[in-house]
Amino acid sequence: MVKIAHIAGARPNFVKIASLLKACQKEPGIESLLVHTGQHYSHSMSQSFFEELDIPQPDINLEVGSGSHAYQTAEIMKRLEPVLLEHKPDAVLVVGDVNSTAASVLVAVKLGIRTIHVEAGLRSFDRTMPEEINRIVTDSISDVLLVSDPSGVENLRREGIDDSKVFVVGNVMIDTLERNKEKADASDIVTRMNLDSKEYALMTLHRPHNVDQEDVLQNIVAALAKIQNDLQIIFPVHPRTKKNLSADGFGLNLNTLPNLRLIEPLGYLDFLKLMSEAKIVLTDSGGIQEETTILGIPCLTLRDNTERPITLTEGTNRLVGTKTDDILAGYRDALSDSCSGKRPDLWDGKAADRIVKILLEVL
Ligand code: UD1
Repeated sequence: MVKIAHIAGARPNFVKIASLLKACQKEPGIESLLVHTGQHYSHSMSQSFFEELDIPQPDINLEVGSGSHAYQTAEIMKRLEPVLLEHKPDAVLVVGDVNSTAASVLVAVKLGIRTIHVEAGLRSFDRTMPEEINRIVTDSISDVLLVSDPSGVENLRREGIDDSKVFVVGNVMIDTLERNKEKADASDIVTRMNLDSKEYALMTLHRPHNVDQEDVLQNIVAALAKIQNDLQIIFPVHPRTKKNLSADGFGLNLNTLPNLRLIEPLGYLDFLKLMSEAKIVLTDSGGIQEETTILGIPCLTLRDNTERPITLTEGTNRLVGTKTDDILAGYRDALSDSCSGKRPDLWDGKAADRIVKILLEVL
């Protein structure tokens, strides 16, 4: 029997561990311990994902909450160490690139516990992104690196990581999408919001680069102001973005734009439904670039780079940056292009099963 401590802390982590935990539960040789760091704690950012995705309640919640990067990372490390000492897992499994990911592997490695990173090898080559630092740190000290597409293998090789640690397994976020597509289809969010299929755009925005700098956020808002004249925009607002738009932040009042509908963050199923019925999605999220690729929905990524290049070469994604005119040009191009992209190899809903097989072999 191998005991694996799965560690998750932020919204996108929950989507990924949902499939991993299910696959581990099916395997009698694996005992799972779930640790929630508490990086995300609001119902809409955390508990609602546990409920909708049927994730078991965490065995332990470190309840670190929000704070600066140093504070959050340090608190996770301080609170996780005694948990690992007490429960003595054979391995620690982390997903993604959030502060919880990097903090957890730092603790585990120094306790001599084997570490597994799911979604390894992604690189934006932009070290101003906190996630890029988390990716580099996590991959450089993890024992088993599970990558979602071949570009991850190349990136890790370039950093001198031995091929023997690296396995291409596919994409666990897509496992969760495939498992929940039918349930999401039954969501009544489209009618509830009085929308018509393919007659709205869906928008998300939360990257510090885009929402913590007033000029960048203003450029994006100027593009939205134009787009909403043409197509209604639905915008579930992330807490970081809400704070910065508010009078306590930059005081940008979006309520003057009649066709831009600001709503609270949505649960997984409603969001998946809204994405599948949208005419186009505008985002700076990583996961949404992947999900729109599988759904065949055009996606404009409001960033200058992406750590998920396969969504550009094979999927429906376009990098449009954050300048007003570039976003508008990307919008026009995307709507006049009928390409629906193709499914990247191994993004087939079976990544977690492949991961479990590898874990049983290497642990
Ligand atoms: C974090 C991740 C990012 C991921 C994103 C998904 C890092 C470095 N960043 O960014 O990679 O894409 O999660 O959402 O780990 N807040 C709440 N409720 C919550 C959580 C946060 O209101 O449950 C508010 C707090 O005011 C907090 C702010 O949102 O200060 C930002 O949260 P934080 O976890 O620091 O970063 P995210 O922007 O969510």
